[in-house]
Amino acid sequence: MSIIPSVAYAEKRMTVGYAIASFKLTIAILVMIVLITAPNLEFSSLRQGLTLAVSNRKSLRSPKRNAELSVPTTLPTNQSIIGGVQGGHWEYDEHNTPPYVFSPQACMASFIDQRDCIKTDKYCRSNLTNWVYKDRNNKHYPRFDVDGFRRNMRNSRIIFVGSSLVRQQVQALVWTLGHNEVKWEKTGSTCSSRRVCMLDAIGNITICHRFMGSMATRVYHEGNFTLDHHLRGHGDSSCLLLDEMIAEFNEFDLAFVQSIAWFPGLPRVLNSSSSPFDWVSRMIPKVYYDAMNVFLSKVSRQTKTVFVLGQTGTKCANKSAPEPFSVDKIPNSYGWQLAPKLWNVSLSLIQQKEIIVQVIDAREPLMQSVHAHPSPDHDCLHFCMNSAAINIYLDMYWAEVFSL
Ligand SMILES: *[C@@H]1O[C@H](CO)[C@@H](O)[C@H](O)[C@H]1NC(C)=O
Ligand SMILES: *[C@@H]1O[C@H](CO)[C@@H](O)[C@H](O)[C@H]1NC(C)=O
Ligand SMILES: *[C@@H]1O[C@H](CO)[C@@H](O)[C@H](O)[C@H]1NC(C)=O
Ligand SMILES: *[C@@H]1O[C@H](CO)[C@@H](O)[C@H](O)[C@H]1NC(C)=O
Ligand SMILES: *[C@@H]1O[C@H](CO)[C@@H](O)[C@H](O)[C@H]1NC(C)=O
Ligand SMILES: *[C@@H]1O[C@H](CO)[C@@H](O)[C@H](O)[C@H]1NC(C)=O
Ligand SMILES: *[C@@H]1O[C@H](CO)[C@@H](O)[C@H](O)[C@H]1NC(C)=O
Repeated sequence: MSIIPSVAYAEKRMTVGYAIASFKLTIAILVMIVLITAPNLEFSSLRQGLTLAVSNRKSLRSPKRNAELSVPTTLPTNQSIIGGVQGGHWEYDEHNTPPYVFSPQACMASFIDQRDCIKTDKYCRSNLTNWVYKDRNNKHYPRFDVDGFRRNMRNSRIIFVGSSLVRQQVQALVWTLGHNEVKWEKTGSTCSSRRVCMLDAIGNITICHRFMGSMATRVYHEGNFTLDHHLRGHGDSSCLLLDEMIAEFNEFDLAFVQSIAWFPGLPRVLNSSSSPFDWVSRMIPKVYYDAMNVFLSKVSRQTKTVFVLGQTGTKCANKSAPEPFSVDKIPNSYGWQLAPKLWNVSLSLIQQKEIIVQVIDAREPLMQSVHAHPSPDHDCLHFCMNSAAINIYLDMYWAEVFSL
């Protein structure tokens, strides 16, 4: 049951990991030299000189950051250390204790988007929570640890950036933390990018979701064709690339970015005689590469950034049991077949531009699961909120980010 060629990816990750490690080491050595030779140098000019990704303010607030940034640990290089998610599988276990019990009432009192409540209530079976992910050594993948999360992330601010797929993770996180009544603080719907935040008072942890659709850095021309991304209207989050908007991310200690979901729909949305479907399809990897290059480079400069590879749509109709996944099985609805290409583009980008982000590859457990909202909505992209699948994201964030 070979999936996305995981070995190739693992190797790629290792290469990137080493490249970044040595890059960071070089920076660290440079910093030490500068600190030793010029003790009175302002930290900010040091930062400018070296474009080093450290914020004075943040290191004061959260000493952990400094250590994190100076130690060259970024990309996961050896999956067995972190639970071996690749090569694992789902098993049904009715004795499994779920992280939370979905209730339509609690959902209505705490939702970010009401559709997550309605669809789950209407279409999702209650036993979806009884699945556990076993790693490739047949061991339970480590579970998200609420107390550990609060201990390790105390007094911090975390932002999750991305589409509704990311919104669902944030929703699952607040329920896992026990919040059944949440008043989300809403800000700014500039460039169709609303932000919602809540505070976990026990840990003093601010948790935010900022919507990100698709983005473009410019208008693209080729021959007679023009790709003007602004024409997409709803879902155009290009303004997130501007420095004013990036400043917001600098207020956070940790940013999770998952970016692919809205790009595959572009050929259909923009389809016209001057930007025909097939041409736009071919242009998307470039548009995506350019936009994510700007976004990830800017955000990761001051904020520890985690780049997440997650799910795209599957064939879910009438299915309830997980199945092995392969990229060839991705249905061609909504341009979903573009996702594998964009996954690759992300990894190449991070490698080529030496962007200092941690990559979390959650594709395998997520793409094996078919716990999306079942028909008749044909929503095979979003998960039932009571599904173990949505929670594997959080388990992976615990194992690979929060617990370290
Ligand atoms: C990964 O880690 C395991 C256990 O720590 C070790 O046995 C294995 O050789 C490592 N694999 C690689 C490719 O480094
Ligand atoms: C989950 O419950 C449904 C009925 O709601 C049942 O048909 C199905 O077999 C159950 N799944 C498992 C794996 O027991
Ligand atoms: C809560 O955390 C924020 C940073 O996110 C910090 O500024 C504030 O002082 C903390 N409050 C308490 C009571 O520790
Ligand atoms: C561009 O438009 C011109 C004039 O309408 C036409 O002759 C030419 O074939 C077009 N080129 C392409 C690549 O479509
Ligand atoms: C794209 O638009 C053209 C008309 O400009 C139409 O004929 C074609 O069917 C559309 N293609 C798709 C895939 O929507
Ligand atoms: C799913 O099941 C329903 C009812 O049994 C059936 O009408 C429908 O065709 C099935 N859909 C698929 C994609 O198999
Ligand atoms: C993605 O990258 C892998 C490994 O480098 C490769 O085997 C695969 O063909 C690529 N897929 C696409 C769609 O580019």
